[in-house]
Amino acid sequence: MSSSTFIDYLSSPSGSLCGSINIPGDKSISHRAVIMGSIAIGITQIKGLLKSADIVSTVNVFRDMGVCIEESSDEMIIHGVGLHGLKEPANALDFGNSGTSVRILGGLLSTQKFDATLIGDDSLSQRPMRRIIDPLIEMGATLNCSTQHTLPIHIKGSNSLNGIAYHLPVASAQLKSCLLLAGLYAKGKTRIIEDSVTRDHTERMLIEFGANIDVKKEYIEIQSGELSARKIQIPGDISSAAFFLVAASICPGSNLVLKNVGINPTRDAVIEILRRMGANIEVKMINDTGIESIADIHVQYSSLVGIKIPEELVPIAIDELPVIMIAAAFAKGDTELVNATELRVKESDRIEAIAVGLKSLGIQVITRDDGMMVTGGKLNGGEVHSYGDHRIAMAFAIAASNAGETIKILDCVNVNTSFPDFIEISSSIGLNIRTQERNG
Ligand code: S3P
Repeated sequence: MSSSTFIDYLSSPSGSLCGSINIPGDKSISHRAVIMGSIAIGITQIKGLLKSADIVSTVNVFRDMGVCIEESSDEMIIHGVGLHGLKEPANALDFGNSGTSVRILGGLLSTQKFDATLIGDDSLSQRPMRRIIDPLIEMGATLNCSTQHTLPIHIKGSNSLNGIAYHLPVASAQLKSCLLLAGLYAKGKTRIIEDSVTRDHTERMLIEFGANIDVKKEYIEIQSGELSARKIQIPGDISSAAFFLVAASICPGSNLVLKNVGINPTRDAVIEILRRMGANIEVKMINDTGIESIADIHVQYSSLVGIKIPEELVPIAIDELPVIMIAAAFAKGDTELVNATELRVKESDRIEAIAVGLKSLGIQVITRDDGMMVTGGKLNGGEVHSYGDHRIAMAFAIAASNAGETIKILDCVNVNTSFPDFIEISSSIGLNIRTQERNG
C-alpha cells in the first residue's frame, strides 16, 4: 500500500508578539509581473518577487513556452518575447495549485498560434473554470473540458478572437484579468463592466507596460498593442500581513511593525474591517508614487468587538476573511459575514473549513450559503483540518496564539504556495508554531 507524507502544524499559545518584520512579496502582483514581463518586448527586471510554489508554477509555464527567465537571490530577469513570441509547449502546462495563473492565462492561451492543455493538482482540478470558458467562447475561442467545467482544459490556438463587452457575473479579478489578456490580442475593443470593485493589479500593470487600456469608473476597455518591458518593485503581500494584524490584535501586550506592505485600495479592506472591530492599526505611507503604494503598518493589541462586515468590503478582503473570522472568535459578541459565496470555491470551501474548525475548538458558529456568524468566546486547543488550503492552515496557526492549549492543524504543506517563510517570520515575533511529519 502506498503512503504519503503530510506536514502538520503544532501551534501553541504565545505571549505578546513584538518586533518589526518584512512582509514577503505580493502573490497577485508577482504573478502579473511574470506574465507581463514574458509577453512584453525587452527585459523586465523584478525586485521583491514572492518566491512561492504558485509563482514557480507561473514561471515554469512561461519557461515551457520558450521564455528565458533568470533568477538571482534578489531579482528576476525576464527576457520578454513580445505578444506573438511564445512557443508551443512540448507538454501539458502544469499550474500546480495556482488558480490565479490558470484562470488569467486561459485568456492569453486562447489567442496563441498553438494549442495548449492546462492541468493542475487535485485541488485546482476541482475548481470552477466555467466563469472563464463562457466569455472566452463568446470572443471566439475554442476550449474543451469535462462537463463539470474543470481542468484539464484543452485550448485550440486562434488569432481571430473578437473583443466583446462583458458584464462580470461574479466579482473576480482572475476573470477580469483573463478577459483583459484575451482583449490584448483580440480584434476591436474588449470592455469589462464590474458591479463590485475587485483587485486592480492587472489594470495598473498593463498601464505601466504601456498597454492600450482605458480604466474608467464605469468600465475598463482594452485594445491590442505590444507591451514594453519595465523595472518592477513588488510590495509585501497584505494577505500575508493580515495574519500578523490579527495575531497582534488578539495577543495582549503585542506591538508589531509590518514593513513594506502593499496597500492598494482594492486590497486593504482587512484594515478597515479590523479597525471597525476595534483593532489598533496605524498605516504610515512609505511610497505612493509607484504602480502600487507601499506602507509600514503598526498594530498593537486591542480588545475586539463583533460587527456585521459591510457587504461591499467582502470582495476587497476576500482572501483575508478566514483570518478575520479567527479575529471574530476572540471578539466580544457576534460577527456576521454575508455576500461571501465565493469563499466556497477557493482552495477549499472556506466557510465550511473555518466553521468546522472553530466549532471543534469550542466556538459557536452558524453557517449560511453565503457566509457565517461567529460568536466570540474562549478558544480551546484541539485538532483541525486545513483541507490542504494555505490560508486555512495559517488562520488556525494564528488562532492558537491565544487559545487554551496547542492546536494541531493537519496538512499544511500548501502554505508554501503563498508564504514559504510563514513559520520563520512567525517565530521571529514570538509565535510558537512547529511542523510535524505524518505518514498517511
Ligand atoms: C486573485 C483574485 C482572487 C483571490 C485570489 C487572487 C488574483 O480570486 O481570491 O487569491 O490575483 O487575481 P477571484 O478572482 O476568484 O476572486
